[in-house]
Amino acid sequence: MRRARIAGVGHYVPERVVTNHDLEQLMDTSDEWIRERTGIRERRFTAPGVGSSGLGVKAAEAALAAAGWQPADVQFIIFATLSPDLYFPGNGVLLQAALGMEGIGALDVRNQCTGFLYGLSVADAFVRMGMCDRVLVVGGEVHSTGLRMNTEGRDTAVLFGDGAGAVCVEATDGAGNGCLLAHRLHADGRFAHELTIPKPGALNNPWLTKEMIDDGLTSPKMNGREVFKNAVTRFPEVIEEVLAAEGVAVSEVDLFIPHQANERITEAVRKRLRVAPEKVYSNIARYGNTTAASIPIALSEALAAGTVTRGSLICLAAFGSGFTWAASLLRY
Ligand code: ACO
Repeated sequence: MRRARIAGVGHYVPERVVTNHDLEQLMDTSDEWIRERTGIRERRFTAPGVGSSGLGVKAAEAALAAAGWQPADVQFIIFATLSPDLYFPGNGVLLQAALGMEGIGALDVRNQCTGFLYGLSVADAFVRMGMCDRVLVVGGEVHSTGLRMNTEGRDTAVLFGDGAGAVCVEATDGAGNGCLLAHRLHADGRFAHELTIPKPGALNNPWLTKEMIDDGLTSPKMNGREVFKNAVTRFPEVIEEVLAAEGVAVSEVDLFIPHQANERITEAVRKRLRVAPEKVYSNIARYGNTTAASIPIALSEALAAGTVTRGSLICLAAFGSGFTWAASLLRY
């Protein structure tokens, strides 16, 4: 049976490390407050002039090398980001031009924290239906340029970091090679305004004003408690749903890779599912929340560290703005 499998994974994070102590110099916060509530110790911020497409290019190059592909082998690009370089066109075409892959299709996914999983499921479907043999899926974010790095913006400024991850998805006959097994995707737009960047937007005329910037409306607005409450319910729900689709027990999964939103959310989900700590990947202490990039970065690191190898059963899961939530199950 024709299936899709992950042929290679790569990631890239900017060199500049910004610690909680660095943030103490910019706003009224403390290393202790940030660590206790989120688990974050430091994050990476991009260099001037390098956007999420540029980080995505480096992650894509690493994934291509891991898969043994040349850029010319890629037949379709999917780029998930909430922080594109431009209002339009999307990051997919920018990455395509940078890697010299002119002519192939490029799709941008705007699903925030679940963007990578939505993108991965599309890649899986395109390969399974025979439309493509090789798809590049990228998740990349630059949050640092959009955060309010002062006390007024501290509730979200301390959470986010920059980075990118990418996977190469290829056709397989499914026999013993590993493959993407199942995906479950959900959304509830009634919560759209609980985690959002409210402005600018074409809803407004003009679509951007100085007042919007001065009022802090162009940086993230989050109802932290509502996010927390929904996340700790939706994560286990969707994980159990995707496992049930394949008749897999929680205990059979070798590694869970949740979107790195907040260590307290991950810990609550882990306890609810009764999973041992070593079976849940976490790197939020080092990178903060990198939204669409967090899952492919974590997968790339877990493979590099040997935590998972060919044959491992891996469950990816995410919850975030929209609200959206999703999970994917794969045999690597
Ligand atoms: N440093 C110091 N104090 C802060 C900071 C900060 N960075 N941010 C807020 N505070 C203050 C608040 O102003 C408030 O002060 P007050 O009591 O004088 O009014 C106090 O800390 C407590 O604020 P709360 O919002 O009640 O803090 P809470 O304990 O709820 O923790 C948090 C906030 C960490 C955001 C929590 O609600 C949470 O974990 N929510 C989940 C949201 C999340 O992690 N989102 C990640 C991105 S979304 C995603 O990827 C799914």
